[in-house]
Amino acid sequence: MNRPSVQKFVLFGATGDLAQRMVWPSLYHLVREKLVPSDLTFVGSARHKYSDEEFRGFVEAALRKFVPAEYVEQKALDDLLGRVNYVSFEAGDGTVKGTEALQKALAGKDRVLYFMATSPKLYGPTCQSLQAAGLACHHCRVILEKPIGQDYASSVAINEAVGKAFAEDQVFRIDHYLGKEAVQNLLALRFANSLFEPLWNHASIEHVQITVAETVGVEGRWGYYDDSGALRDMVQNHMLQLVTLVAMEPPHLLDPNEVRNEKTKVLRSLRPITPASVAANTVRGQYAAGNSGGKPAPGYNEEEGAKGNSDTETFVAIRAEVDNWRWAGVPWYLRTGKRMQSRRTDIAIQFKPVPHNIFAADQPELQANRLVIHLQPEESVTLEILSKQPGLEGVRLREVPLELSLPKSESGGRTRIAYERLLLDALKGKSTLFVRRDEVEAAWTWIDGIQSSWRSTRQTVKPYPAGTWGPTAAIALTERHGHSWYE
Ligand code: BG6
Repeated sequence: MNRPSVQKFVLFGATGDLAQRMVWPSLYHLVREKLVPSDLTFVGSARHKYSDEEFRGFVEAALRKFVPAEYVEQKALDDLLGRVNYVSFEAGDGTVKGTEALQKALAGKDRVLYFMATSPKLYGPTCQSLQAAGLACHHCRVILEKPIGQDYASSVAINEAVGKAFAEDQVFRIDHYLGKEAVQNLLALRFANSLFEPLWNHASIEHVQITVAETVGVEGRWGYYDDSGALRDMVQNHMLQLVTLVAMEPPHLLDPNEVRNEKTKVLRSLRPITPASVAANTVRGQYAAGNSGGKPAPGYNEEEGAKGNSDTETFVAIRAEVDNWRWAGVPWYLRTGKRMQSRRTDIAIQFKPVPHNIFAADQPELQANRLVIHLQPEESVTLEILSKQPGLEGVRLREVPLELSLPKSESGGRTRIAYERLLLDALKGKSTLFVRRDEVEAAWTWIDGIQSSWRSTRQTVKPYPAGTWGPTAAIALTERHGHSWYE
């Protein structure tokens, strides 16, 4: 569909952490590479009082801090900053301040893209104030950052409140994992090659693993993180989105709703985790003091801003199942944690061994085929196969990784910020890589089951030293079933 181009980009929460680290740097790269129209202008908005000049200084300082020096170009900075204005605006707790200034800044514009980089509890009040001020125009769109709520009920409340001002096709829920190059490549790999599809099911796949390991701790966000924990912060959104892309049926068109219909079906097929199954299928962990990257690291409850003896999990491992025809009986091992041994995000598809092995009776350590999609720190795809070792001494096998490399990024090798692609798509009105309301709600339904089962069976966190792969119980989670984590 050809949509008229956006005239104004309005960033609420324009002075926050997300804005400084991700949104302004992404907009800077898009302007620098001339990927957005030269007449697109930007409004930063937050509670603080700033003049336009002061705010431009603030954005410039953020860009100099968060954009690598080799990409900071004065001409591009001037280009972006010359298009930035500031409006002090506040909506929430029954009060709205700054409506007139916003109306003035947007006068005559009826194609506006709003980005909510604020606390989710402000999404509803902000959208409704925009509507009351006549600013929720028909061609306007709104981007919502995660988390959409804390559970199913609060996500419904937020979606309902936003829905009073904007129709669902105007709402773009961002999950930055969907903007990563390797995630996009996963779709190409699955649906552009005939090689994998016949094997992509329970008959050939033994299990699937997804690891999102970070070495950082909570990075000064203890307050936010403590209300959230790893399950809500990483599994509900990023990890379940990866599950949907691996598990979904081929859509019949690369159309936003066709793709999202298939993803939603996967989320609805996740087997509920109940009080009876939660202990056997999940592990909650929390980092204790240890050593991270060669330096001593404090425990979670000793981090800056920590309040008391919190039981929030910084690590979670789950054995999930997708109850449908394609995936019946295939375990999905998911694990994510902060302060782990190394930073690594990957999806490992473990294929079954051959039914009768005529070669390697004395080489039990050899793995069957495995397809690994590496998302971080480097993006690549590797297919591990077994091959004969060269030599005259009979047939000895070895594992050989076939690198199915990704094409070099168009930006001269720079790894793009995932937000760049997503912002560009939102500006163009392309919603395939954004999460639809029913997806968010289906994901929360499954997560709520885990959360309430943890509560009712009192699953307290198991400590793990910072700089390790999590509690030993996470190893047992796979080993009990004869599998092990991909390292
Ligand atoms: C965010 C989480 O959504 O994703 C953070 O709130 C986490 O806690 C981050 O650190 C990880 O993103 P990435 O792209 O670095 O894997």
